[in-house]
Amino acid sequence: MSYLSSLFGVSPKTYLNDNVQQILPWALSATAIAYALYSTFVLAKKKGRCNSKVQLDTDKVVHSVDIEDIGKKAVFCRCWKSTKFPYCDGSHNKHNECTGDNVGPLIIKQKEA
Ligand code: FES
Repeated sequence: MSYLSSLFGVSPKTYLNDNVQQILPWALSATAIAYALYSTFVLAKKKGRCNSKVQLDTDKVVHSVDIEDIGKKAVFCRCWKSTKFPYCDGSHNKHNECTGDNVGPLIIKQKEA
């Protein structure tokens, strides 16, 4: 009897086959639970993002507009669907129809004298 056989009481191949059959269901269950937790807490967080089209390759989208350049009125997008972002192009209307949301633009204008 080899050293491994005396250690396990059976041949290593038999020991491995018996234990794999016992461990495999537990390992598959643990993997399924780990994936469920991962998809719940990690993947769902990524799906919750509101920006799905503007500068997706950057960590943070930042725009700066000088107040002198606004003129009498500027309309800024707050739904992240505009093709002219950061300015509103009316895409929020379609978004609201499709989702039941109620988002709209930020309008900045000078007071009328
Ligand atoms: S297009 Fe986004 S608020 Fe109008």
